Amino acid sequence: MSDLLLEVEGLRKSFSGVAALREGRFSLRAGSVHALCGGNGAGKSTFLSIVMGIQERDGGTIRRRGRPVIFGSPKEALANGIAIVEQELSPIPAMTVAENIYLGREPVRWGQINFRAMNRAAQALLDDLGFAIRATDLMMDLSVAKVQLVEIAKALSYDAEVIIMDEPSSALGEHEADQMFDAIRTLKEKGKGIIYVSHRLSEIFDIADSYTVFRDGAYVGSGALANVTRNELIQMVVGRPLTEEFIKENVPGDRPLLEVCGLHAESGVFDVTFEARHGEIIALYGLMGSGRTEIFERLFGLSPDRGGEIRIDGQAVRIASPKDAKRLGLAYVTEDRKGSGLVLTGDVRSNICLAELGKLSRGPAMSTRAEARAARDMIQMFGIKAASDRLDVSGLSGGNQQKVVLAKWFLTEPRILLLDEPTRGVDVGAKREIYRIISEFARNGGAVLLVSSETDEVLGMADRVVVMRGGRVAGEVTRSDMSAETLVHMAA
Ligand SMILES: Nc1ncnc2c1ncn2[C@@H]1O[C@H](COP(=O)(O)OP(=O)(O)OP(=O)(O)O)[C@@H](O)[C@H]1O
Ligand SMILES: [Mg+2]
Repeated sequence: MSDLLLEVEGLRKSFSGVAALREGRFSLRAGSVHALCGGNGAGKSTFLSIVMGIQERDGGTIRRRGRPVIFGSPKEALANGIAIVEQELSPIPAMTVAENIYLGREPVRWGQINFRAMNRAAQALLDDLGFAIRATDLMMDLSVAKVQLVEIAKALSYDAEVIIMDEPSSALGEHEADQMFDAIRTLKEKGKGIIYVSHRLSEIFDIADSYTVFRDGAYVGSGALANVTRNELIQMVVGRPLTEEFIKENVPGDRPLLEVCGLHAESGVFDVTFEARHGEIIALYGLMGSGRTEIFERLFGLSPDRGGEIRIDGQAVRIASPKDAKRLGLAYVTEDRKGSGLVLTGDVRSNICLAELGKLSRGPAMSTRAEARAARDMIQMFGIKAASDRLDVSGLSGGNQQKVVLAKWFLTEPRILLLDEPTRGVDVGAKREIYRIISEFARNGGAVLLVSSETDEVLGMADRVVVMRGGRVAGEVTRSDMSAETLVHMAA
């Protein structure tokens, strides 16, 4: 029997006349991790959803172990040994972890769902994977990272031969990602094939054996990762060479813009002190749960004052609500773009103008024109790939949705940017654009607080790193002393 688990050729798909996929080609061997690479909107998710029977193809062939197949639904794909962890998660919030994992195939006893058996099976699965999650917890009580881990556990519970993972790490911290990588290595040893999508190149070189690149909906190339350099891969993805991945043009000034003194916050932030100067990019680094997001929530007035002082330009300020925060020039890009950043049912224009409604609405006619202009500027500034600004955000690729969230906040002309995973799901070319925008913002005197689980990004962009551990500041590292080892060591 051949070890080719999956072969795809000439796969095509258009959405209302616009080609999303022109020539999808791919092959997957048993016992390998194959990275599917490509920029935002290159057609990766479209390709995978056709393979999985979620969407219909316009043309092309798919062979499963040499046999031509077309799956009419994910259920059929699953029955043929293919499971997926989708890019956009859709858990049922009011259900438990176990119910989500076994949805539609619950163990039954005497005509009733056997909850005890189901909870036991789910817990065994989670424990096996080393995921610290209780099977009886409600999905709505879990962090984004844990929801992601549950989705991974669910895909693995089918014991499929082919496992597709569409950006599984984008919501995970370093620690959770390591747990997932361990799980992937075990699957590989068992002879399974894993299709892995990620915009994090370090990760790809770490975990994958082979790669395939799509660009503008078409196959560009494939091979063994051992035979390609990081720069060569970037060039295939972007279509031209990138001389450097990071753009950093800001130089920190002397005057503090934001001072945080002895700050306490709900859910475990204790006595946190640091400052960000005009023109400075500060990274808050730490494991998930180390208090980074909680600091942002306190600074943006989303959680109550529990003590400590916040000063802006030397003046003590009170931030009791997001309205206070915005008035003081803060903007907050949250880690969960669907939960708090984006209105998926709204179009690109209204989403971009969402945070700035006050400034733009001076009479209905004016507002439409001002909105249209503002949206156009932002679409250009961020290079948002959308056919029209009246298109629903849900039709954009993941990375382009992220850019809409950033654009929305830049429009408020903030002085202090709180960025929680700002390049999540953003491709290597667009990341560079975002770095340029962030460093230009700092160069013009703004201060940036950056939370990122991508160590490369912290090292590439931060002037100083405040390392958090268990809700406290574990130490500070300046740019000249930064290394991945130092940061990981201090945070653990
Ligand atoms: N349901 C849809 N309706 C209309 N257009 C769509 C739809 N789904 C995808 N597209 C378009 O198809 C193209 C490919 O999108 P796709 O989501 O496959 O990209 P991707 O490679 O997964 O990108 P990303 O890295 O950002 O996730 C994009 O231009 C996207 O806007
Ligand atoms: Mg995608």
